[in-house]
Amino acid sequence: MNKPNQQLPQMRVPTPIPDMGTGPIPVEPYISEEFFEKEREKIFKRAWLEVLRVEEIPQVGDYLLIELPILNTTVIVVRGKDDQVRAFHNICTHRGNTVALESGNTRNFVCSYHGWVYGLDGELLDRPGEAYFEHSQK
Ligand code: FES
Repeated sequence: MNKPNQQLPQMRVPTPIPDMGTGPIPVEPYISEEFFEKEREKIFKRAWLEVLRVEEIPQVGDYLLIELPILNTTVIVVRGKDDQVRAFHNICTHRGNTVALESGNTRNFVCSYHGWVYGLDGELLDRPGEAYFEHSQK
């Protein structure tokens, strides 16, 4: 604790502090939908977002569905067979169906629409009925 009249060390300020003024702060950034959309694009889509702690998915195959309203999406965060934690959009690459409906533990993710199967690392493992799809597109 400093004694009275003891001189305090000088604070170092690396750059000059800009003059912030003393006037009122504009309200627009706090209420504007347009400003919020810019923040969504320029800040939240570019920044790392903490969505869980790895301890929440301790076992291989454990996964959580994480809603990210700020990005208008849901991601699957899963612990893979190699013990790595990965996150994927919860969207089937076939026709955009939702792949996982709830959190849990699984060996693979199976899309409920046409049954495409994805590994815990996001790799597409199987496309049941592939021959039918190729035939029907001719
Ligand atoms: S939309 Fe997922 S398998 Fe077709």
